[in-house]
Amino acid sequence: MYKLLTAAVSMALVSSFALAQASADKKSGIEIKDYPGNTPPTEKVATLKLKGDAKAGQADYKAYCEACHMPTGGGTPDGSIPQLAGQHSSVVIKQLADIRSGLRYNPTMYPFARKLPDPQAIANVAAYIGTLCIPLDSGKYQGPDAAKQVAEGKRLYEKECAQCHQPNGEGLKEMFYPVLAGQHYQYLLRQMTEIHDGKRVEVPPEMLKVITKYNNAQLAAISAYQASLTTPGSMLRSGGSMCKTASAKGGKT
Ligand code: HEC
Ligand code: HEC
Repeated sequence: MYKLLTAAVSMALVSSFALAQASADKKSGIEIKDYPGNTPPTEKVATLKLKGDAKAGQADYKAYCEACHMPTGGGTPDGSIPQLAGQHSSVVIKQLADIRSGLRYNPTMYPFARKLPDPQAIANVAAYIGTLCIPLDSGKYQGPDAAKQVAEGKRLYEKECAQCHQPNGEGLKEMFYPVLAGQHYQYLLRQMTEIHDGKRVEVPPEMLKVITKYNNAQLAAISAYQASLTTPGSMLRSGGSMCKTASAKGGKT
């Protein structure tokens, strides 16, 4: 019921999105730009106002997150668990709030996400994730036709995805556009398929309109391209960094 209503409202407000996007020019801090589809669960709004304490977040990350997302925040190259290191803090917070509220269906993680007691704890964990260096050994597309797939994916990505996810897949913090560069190929492909099939309700209608046109082969090519990109740490936040070694086992924990 709530979701249906949200979708209806989203569709009706498509045009106001362009305005919100046009005014997203603040580069410091998290300036919340709302858009249709980006419904504001109160927890997300409350959390975004808080300053996270990375040190406090480290303990919760170890207790509730690292068994799956790994001490490095790199997830698993088979794509069953996404890379979090390098993701915008706004995106980490939004996705956590969405998962905790059930808006984003993630039964595997749900009980662990619920362990965080309050918005401050969410802000702390997000701050801790923000201190992790970005691992470089994420899962790539491995087929023999990789060069061809990456080239085709680049063509498609630049046509209709880069406007939001940015030319190097670095996303946009202020708009909650996720970083896609350096994410695992299999995870990207799974998310794109779920978004294509309408299973992630929080995706902006503009993205849905674009992605529903593509078939599986095209989605695989776009995923191959995105997974081939690496985001310079400096693009993400001041002090952000790439891990020094390709396989950063243990990371900076
Ligand atoms: C039992 C394993 C598990 C645990 C524990 C877990 N997660 Fe997850 N997490 C996942 C899976 C699986 C996904 C991706 C789900 C999907 O494919 O839709 C995910 C997705 C996410 C995302 C969304 C990433 C994106 O790119 O959209 C964030 C953020 C996240 N987790 C943070 C956390 C934090 C913080 C904790 C600790 C409080 C945590 N997770 C604990 C399994 C886990
Ligand atoms: C209007 C801006 C916009 C456009 C255009 C757009 N996206 Fe997105 N995309 C988003 C937003 C916002 C999200 C996060 C949705 C949410 O909060 O759950 C997202 C999420 C994603 C995710 C999931 C990331 C994750 O970590 O879970 C993938 C993959 C993705 N987009 C790929 C694409 C591709 C491929 C295209 C082009 C065909 C595209 N997007 C076009 C805004 C856009």
